Amino acid sequence: MDTIITIKDVSFNYVTGEQISRGVKNVNLEIERGSFVVLLGHNGSGKSTLAKLLNGFLTPTEGEIIVDGINTADESKIFDLRSRVGMVFQNPDNQMVASIIEDDLAFGPENLGVEREEIGRRINWALDIVNMSEHRHRTPTKLSGGQKQRIAIAAVLAMLPNILILDESTAMLDPKGRSEVLETAHKLNKEENMTVILITHYMDEAIDADRIVVMNDGEVILDGAPSEVYQQTDVIRRAGLELPVAARVSEKLIERGYPIKFCLTDKELAEELCQLK
Ligand SMILES: Nc1ncnc2c1ncn2[C@@H]1O[C@H](COP(=O)(O)OP(=O)(O)O)[C@@H](O)[C@H]1O
Ligand SMILES: [Mg+2]
Repeated sequence: MDTIITIKDVSFNYVTGEQISRGVKNVNLEIERGSFVVLLGHNGSGKSTLAKLLNGFLTPTEGEIIVDGINTADESKIFDLRSRVGMVFQNPDNQMVASIIEDDLAFGPENLGVEREEIGRRINWALDIVNMSEHRHRTPTKLSGGQKQRIAIAAVLAMLPNILILDESTAMLDPKGRSEVLETAHKLNKEENMTVILITHYMDEAIDADRIVVMNDGEVILDGAPSEVYQQTDVIRRAGLELPVAARVSEKLIERGYPIKFCLTDKELAEELCQLK
């Protein structure tokens, strides 16, 4: 396996005054270059803490993290690390720094001292990937939530990251915006071989992942391919997550003796139901 991220025995505690609270505990993960990983967990399970540990915003209390050959605790490499790990956050409204989209995309590379022509090429490429080229000269305020998040992704891409982390970047969007962002993430993974870590609490966003890592109370409680992870219905429920509709319906029907298989998608369920006599 070509490993791009190694998380070894990592724990992180938040310390505020006298109070110590657990962010993540004993996390061990190896993430393969070019894979699409969904990090799933309910509110407070440690997902954002793990994301911030990956880009060096936080450093482990215990253990170590190597990202693309860089130890995240090595302060001399922090800018290099940050440009390799692109992060997109939840709120589409507070990730823009400029009032014109192309200026927003230029901001990151300009700060790194990238030359003008190269910045221009990066902007063209990034806007094309997120399918927003025609909006280049517009102001972001008039865009939909899904469009804003795609611009936020493009701004991160202009830094040429190897890893893209989307931290609940679909949570504030309507269904159309959600699917736009998910499609963009999958396209980047497939066409640009970008390693994607999609953080969410929606189980149905995890179906197309290569791998799902489920967190609860700061710990990894499940890790595997979607078909394996979704079968663990009891563990998933105990972690405060809701199975996709197709999974819940097929589970109920199986319990009642119908000869169908456990389904993850609506399409699979429809096919199974059509085969019933
Ligand atoms: N800045 C902070 N100070 C103290 N505790 C925090 C802070 N941020 C997160 N936590 C705690 O760490 C735990 C994990 O939080 P977080 O990583 O934000 O979870 P998630 O992203 O899965 O919702 C929670 O118990 C949360 O209260
Ligand atoms: Mg979070």
